[in-house]
Amino acid sequence: MKKLTNETRKTLRGRTRLVHLGRDSETSQGFVNLPPFRGSTVLYPDVATLLSRNQRYTYGTHGTPTTDALKEAWTDISGAAGTVLVPSGLAAIAVALMTALSAGDHLLMTDAAYRPARNFADVSLKRMGVETTYHDPAIGAGIAELMRPNTRAIFTEAPGSQSLDMQDVPAIAAAAHAHGVCVIMDNTWATPLFFSPHAHGVDMAVEAGTKYLSGHSDMLLGLVTANVEWLKRLEKCVDLLAIPAGPEDVFLALRGLRTMDLRLREAERQALGLARWLQSRPEVLRVIHPALPDYFGHEIWKRDFTGSSGLFSIVLKPASDAAVAAMLDGLELFGMGYSWGGFESLIIPFDCTSYRTATRWAPGGPTLRLTIGLEDIEDLKEDLARGFARLVAAS
Ligand SMILES: Cc1ncc(COP(=O)(O)O)c(C=O)c1O
Repeated sequence: MKKLTNETRKTLRGRTRLVHLGRDSETSQGFVNLPPFRGSTVLYPDVATLLSRNQRYTYGTHGTPTTDALKEAWTDISGAAGTVLVPSGLAAIAVALMTALSAGDHLLMTDAAYRPARNFADVSLKRMGVETTYHDPAIGAGIAELMRPNTRAIFTEAPGSQSLDMQDVPAIAAAAHAHGVCVIMDNTWATPLFFSPHAHGVDMAVEAGTKYLSGHSDMLLGLVTANVEWLKRLEKCVDLLAIPAGPEDVFLALRGLRTMDLRLREAERQALGLARWLQSRPEVLRVIHPALPDYFGHEIWKRDFTGSSGLFSIVLKPASDAAVAAMLDGLELFGMGYSWGGFESLIIPFDCTSYRTATRWAPGGPTLRLTIGLEDIEDLKEDLARGFARLVAAS
């Protein structure tokens, strides 16, 4: 196979890019996949090279051919200027925030942010002298009214964790940039395949590679992409912290990348099928899924996103905690556990009331978050139908 020319590369469509980018037959000695390069020490051929600091690889914390391959591909599909890799999605959130903020600065964060991101802001950023104000996810251009002279960053997540609140990212970005404020987005739900963050005004986009990039629930990884304006500062922040992603995880992420389009589209199809079925169930008050027309924020999703992933939530009709536990405890196919984006379906109960500060969370009944995997959807429906029978019996 010939090396991809830049001309051909420019013409490639999305799926082809996922299969071919970051592969170099020469580095992998002809094998299809690059091995996980491991190591701290990199040897130099002579003193002149060691002193010149020109050698491509210098030390384990500064990158390997494996990390370069993933960075190259992810940067391309994200429409970014560059990517950094860190050991988890939460670490990616932390480095993006630390890149943008210094002591004395003010941060605006969506009230629907991933809860550990809030904890990072409330505990670590606070200790560093950064103040955080939470905003209504639906605020849009109104974010301008919350800005202070020292506001330096806005943290968005769309759709938000658990409650799946949509955000008008372009409107927020326009308001932010008018004041020279950096826009950070957690784009894990859509991935760059279904939402192009930088094309919508995001300066730094976070992806928990732990989810769809992995696809198999057996690794942890965080990726942050940046536009030209923020890339150097982001790279410097990660370099100073020296928190490289593990070689094995980067290798698994590269492997996941090749099939990500296929898995994500199947998760979308399966989740939509199940969401529509759940809408027809008498035990369900409401299905919270961005691709369903009655979802609050559906128009924004339709305008900005090109697909929906396999994660959504439902509100049950009022039921006791014991009845919900009876439903969940007896499930045989849906696992109960945190994280999502794997090949297997998961379900968890959640409640945003205890930590939301800018908005009131009053869904009208117990709430469950589902991630739909690759099982036969009819089996999944039957597992849930048996669960609903237990719910009703215990009510
Ligand atoms: C939206 C979102 N962002 C970030 C993360 C953090 O990823 P990780 O588990 O790799 O730290 C998660 C994990 O659940 C998440 O749901």
